[in-house]
Amino acid sequence: MTDARAPKRLFIETYGCQMNVYDSERMRDVLSPLGYVVTKKPDDADLVILNTCHIREKATEKVYSEIGRLRAHKERRQAEGKGMTIAIAGCVAQAEGEEIIARAPEVDLVVGPQAYHKLPELIARAARKTGERLAADFTAQEKFDALPARAPDGVTAFLSIQEGCDKFCTFCVVPYTRGAEFSRPLADVIAEARSLANKGVREITLLGQNVNAYHGGATFADLLSELAGLSGIARIRYMTSHPIEMTDELISMHGSEPKLMPYLHLPVQSGSDRILKAMNRKHDGAFYRDIIGRLRAVRPDAALSTDIIVGFPGETEKEFEATMQLVRDVTFASAFSFKYSARPGTPAASMMGQVSDEAKHERLQALQALLFAQQTAFNAAQVGRTLPVLVTGDGRRPGQKHGRSPYLQSVHFNDTSARNGDIVDVRITGSSQNSLAGELPVLATA
Ligand code: SAH
Ligand code: SF4
Ligand code: F3S
Repeated sequence: MTDARAPKRLFIETYGCQMNVYDSERMRDVLSPLGYVVTKKPDDADLVILNTCHIREKATEKVYSEIGRLRAHKERRQAEGKGMTIAIAGCVAQAEGEEIIARAPEVDLVVGPQAYHKLPELIARAARKTGERLAADFTAQEKFDALPARAPDGVTAFLSIQEGCDKFCTFCVVPYTRGAEFSRPLADVIAEARSLANKGVREITLLGQNVNAYHGGATFADLLSELAGLSGIARIRYMTSHPIEMTDELISMHGSEPKLMPYLHLPVQSGSDRILKAMNRKHDGAFYRDIIGRLRAVRPDAALSTDIIVGFPGETEKEFEATMQLVRDVTFASAFSFKYSARPGTPAASMMGQVSDEAKHERLQALQALLFAQQTAFNAAQVGRTLPVLVTGDGRRPGQKHGRSPYLQSVHFNDTSARNGDIVDVRITGSSQNSLAGELPVLATA
């Protein structure tokens, strides 16, 4: 038996979106009072949690192959008389909980995204080897209320304000895995932000599957104003937004609120009106272009990122070309692009005209070449500019610091005096696809 007083080792592997990153942090917070200390390797962990993603087939497959790898560690530890509890959390757990239990006997516990506050109890039960399975039959509100205070580990933090989705894009599993839209009350969000600020956080990224659909007793724009009123918080971001929720009030706020970073992640998915309709995105290409135009009118230095799917059922070459044209017209500072992946239970999975993998592959290559060129050009365009950089830690080499530009670019610069959490003006001297290099200007700025 293990010594009850010895620290227990916890390994969490996170897949998927920022919601999962946030949830993993919260799981760590809920387990640390029980003596769990995070370890970087699964080999010697007492508890392994895979926080899974169901969005595309590949993401789901990864989970099963990772479980396969864990089996060997678990068997070895059992032979040493130690044991290892394996818990599957996240969206695959929610969607395929029973299947996991049936397919993977080494899994002790399955827990859906709304039930993480129950983890201590579930793990205790799993340790008693009752072969338990539990999915989310709790509300999101209960989860938020029951989780302990945040323990941020840096000057930037995620803050989840909204979960779930009622939009039902025809390709997407999220409405099924995360359930109906739920917004946390404004007062709770502000209290959490204040507590993060008191612990040294300077930059907050508000999270939600449809973050700008927030309706927790205030509009999303109102929430942003309240947040901007907190003196410790210097920078605010939010993701992921839906184009149809970009209200006039929110767009104009990008022009008037300096704490709101000039960088917006706004998924477009396709540039073809017919495909957008088949996707049930509830807007067309012109609507998206109009938002971008109005955003750039109030905030000329705004940059954009997006999500795009190629090879949605029925997508023709011409319709794909419409996506390429939209990308050329809008120009993105960065983007995520994916081959359409048919997901069980979603309407698009049974649509006619499924596109061959070969065609999807070709389209993705062409699209990514264009997006890569735009991202590289955007980064190169920063060279010579002086950007306010939030210092987040030490750089790669001695005498270097690392930080974040307003556009989320990672910046390495020469300096020894700046402290984490400072915002310093850095003259950008070099760029690559993913990061910038810089130095402090010789003359101090006013
Ligand atoms: N709530 C967000 C994003 C959700 S998932 C939004 O509405 O934009 C993140 C991205 O994964 C999506 O924007 C979409 O581009 C991609 N995605 C979702 N389902 C997919 C599928 N079945 N196949 C390929 N990509 C998908
Ligand atoms: Fe999925 Fe659409 Fe909801 Fe985004 S808005 S989570 S893509 S259903
Ligand atoms: Fe994946 Fe679930 Fe996020 S399916 S993208 S982890 S909401």
